[in-house]
Amino acid sequence: MEKTTVRTVVRGVGHNVPPRSVTNVELSKLMDTSDEWIIERTGIRERRFVEAGTTTTDLALPAIEMACQRAGIKPQDCDMIIGATLSPDFFFPGIGTVLQHKLGMGHVPALDIRAQCSGLIYGLATADAYIRSGMAKRILLVCSEVQSPILDKTNRGRDMAVLFGDGAGALVIESQPCAGEPPRANNQVRGVIDSIMGSDGSGAQLLFLKAPGSIVPGFMTQAAVDAGDIHPKMDGRVVFKNAVTRMVEAANAMLERNGISPSQLDLVLPHQANLRINEAVREKLGIAEDRVFNNIQKYGNTTAATIPICMSEAVEQGKLKEGHLVLTLAFGAGFTWGCNLIRW
Ligand code: COA
Repeated sequence: MEKTTVRTVVRGVGHNVPPRSVTNVELSKLMDTSDEWIIERTGIRERRFVEAGTTTTDLALPAIEMACQRAGIKPQDCDMIIGATLSPDFFFPGIGTVLQHKLGMGHVPALDIRAQCSGLIYGLATADAYIRSGMAKRILLVCSEVQSPILDKTNRGRDMAVLFGDGAGALVIESQPCAGEPPRANNQVRGVIDSIMGSDGSGAQLLFLKAPGSIVPGFMTQAAVDAGDIHPKMDGRVVFKNAVTRMVEAANAMLERNGISPSQLDLVLPHQANLRINEAVREKLGIAEDRVFNNIQKYGNTTAATIPICMSEAVEQGKLKEGHLVLTLAFGAGFTWGCNLIRW
C-alpha cells in the first residue's frame, strides 16, 4: 500500500489573559523598584495577574475556546492533548489530563511538556512528530501559566517578581494530506517546515524553583519555605547572555539548513523575557524591526504562553497571515531553547 504523506498545519490559535492589570508603580509599593528601572531594563510596563483561586487550566479554557472557534472544531474533535506549563494546577498530574476531563475530550492521550519558556517550541515539534508518524490527527496544544502566586513579591525576590505575568495560549494542530512536496521554505505549502530544539542542564540551577522537589530532604520542609525556595530564582546576567547566544545560534542554524536569508522571514515570534534580549537577537540576526512581534510591554513574561499569545495577537492585528513564513524562537529554564519554521 502506498504511504500517504501528511503535513502539520496550525488550524487555529487563541489566547486569554486575566483582566487584572498590575502596573510597575503598583509593584513598587510592594518592593524596592521603580517604573523607570523596570521599563529601562526589561521593556515591561504592566502584566496581568489572576484573582486568587484561578488555576492554570481555568485560565486556559477561554484560550482553547478561541483556538477551536477559529479552527471551526470542538475540543472533542482532537485526538490528543499536550500541555506546556511550569505552573500546573497540581504538582502532579499535569494540566493535560486535567484539561482532558474539563473539556470532556474522551480518553485521548494527554501529556505535559516541561520545557518552560520553550514550551511552545517543544510542544509544536512534538505535535508535528506525532502527526507525521500517523499517531495523531488533530492535537490541542495548550500553553498556560499562573505564575503570580509563586513570585516572591518582596525585596528579596524583586529581580524575578517584576518580570513575570499570567496568561494562556492554545493551538489546534492538524494533520492534512500532502499531495506534492511537503512544506518547505522555498514553496508555498502550508505547515510546519522544521523545528530545532536544544538543552543544557548545567544551567538547571541558574533559573529554577527548588521546592517542592526530591532535592529537598522530605520533598518540602519549613526550612525550604523560610529560605525562599518555594519561589523561582535566577542568575539574571548569566541567563540573559545564554538567551541571546542560544536564540541566535538556533535561528542561524534554522536559516542555514533551510537555505533562507533573514529577509525572507515575514514574521519572527520570539519568547518575551526581556525586550533587550529580543532587540539584541534581532540585531545579531539582521532582521528588520517591523518583522519581530513583541508584546512584553503589556504582559511581561508569561513563560510557555508568550509565543502563542503573540501568535494569536499577530493574527488579530493582521500581522500574521496565511502564506507567511514564520519563525518562533525561545530560550528558557532548563536551559532549553529552540525554534520552529512554519509556513502559516
Ligand atoms: N528593581 C530595581 N533594581 C533591581 C531590581 C528591581 N526589580 N532587580 C534587580 N535590581 C538591581 C540589582 O540588585 C542590581 O543591583 P546592584 O548593581 O547594586 O547589585 C542592579 O539592579 C542591576 O542588576 P543586573 O542584574 O545587572 O541588571 P540587568 O540589567 O541584568 O537586569 C534582569 C536584570 C533580571 C532584568 C536581566 O538580567 C534579565 O532580563 N535576565 C534574563 C531574564 C530572563 O531571560 N528570564 C527568563 C528566561 S526565559
